Amino acid sequence: MPKSVISDAVKRRLPRYYRFLTTLQEEKAERISSEELSRRMGVTASQIRQDLNNFGGFGQQGYGYNVDKLKAELGRILGLDTPHHIIIIGAGNLGQALAGYSNFQTRGLIVKGIFDANPSLVGKRVGDLEVMPMSALKDFIRDNDISIATLAIPKEPAASVAAELYGYGIRAFWNFAHVDLDLPEDAVSENVHLSDSLMQLTYWLNNG
Ligand code: NAI
Repeated sequence: MPKSVISDAVKRRLPRYYRFLTTLQEEKAERISSEELSRRMGVTASQIRQDLNNFGGFGQQGYGYNVDKLKAELGRILGLDTPHHIIIIGAGNLGQALAGYSNFQTRGLIVKGIFDANPSLVGKRVGDLEVMPMSALKDFIRDNDISIATLAIPKEPAASVAAELYGYGIRAFWNFAHVDLDLPEDAVSENVHLSDSLMQLTYWLNNG
């Protein structure tokens, strides 16, 4: 099915299915009914059936879903069956914390390098990595088959750094800088704002 036919809402729910299936695997569950999955995830069983039908179903009447098979299928749809190499730009508090989060690797998302414009950080060890200078970016991206760049830098340089990375072939940006990137059509940015998530709580405290 072409990517564009799947709604954004469904695409956004897939990682959550994937996460629940990972937990089920850890619990050694072989199969699960849509009703049980619905109870665990707090969404209706019909929503689950509808979502997964977008990709051809995977379920069987009276059996439910095979956990391993469904997880493998969702992993394939999410592009996790082939490894993706990531770099982090900005080796400050956030960049270092992200570099140290090894759980990405279990999902085929491998942090290969971390870069910073500050010469005093260059050479510093962050987990298994060593901070590299921005001048090394171009060759590193080419030699390490990098497909995703994480921006953990202030908002002011974010646009020009993204443009530089685009010039080196990067098309997917995981953007933590507090600015929306204006990218060419063949590139995509996923903006992460932890404060948006926190504001769900302040809203609830205020209005709940
Ligand atoms: P930080 O000040 O500890 O680190 C920023 C790093 O970026 C520094 O090491 C600096 O040398 C480097 N840098 C600055 N300009 C650069 C450039 N042109 N090229 C390469 N490296 C450059 O800041 P922190 O706490 O790590 O936060 C990083 C950014 O992420 C900030 O802009 C902050 O506002 C944002 N942030 C966003 C969050 C979110 O949820 N979206 C959460 C936390 C921080």
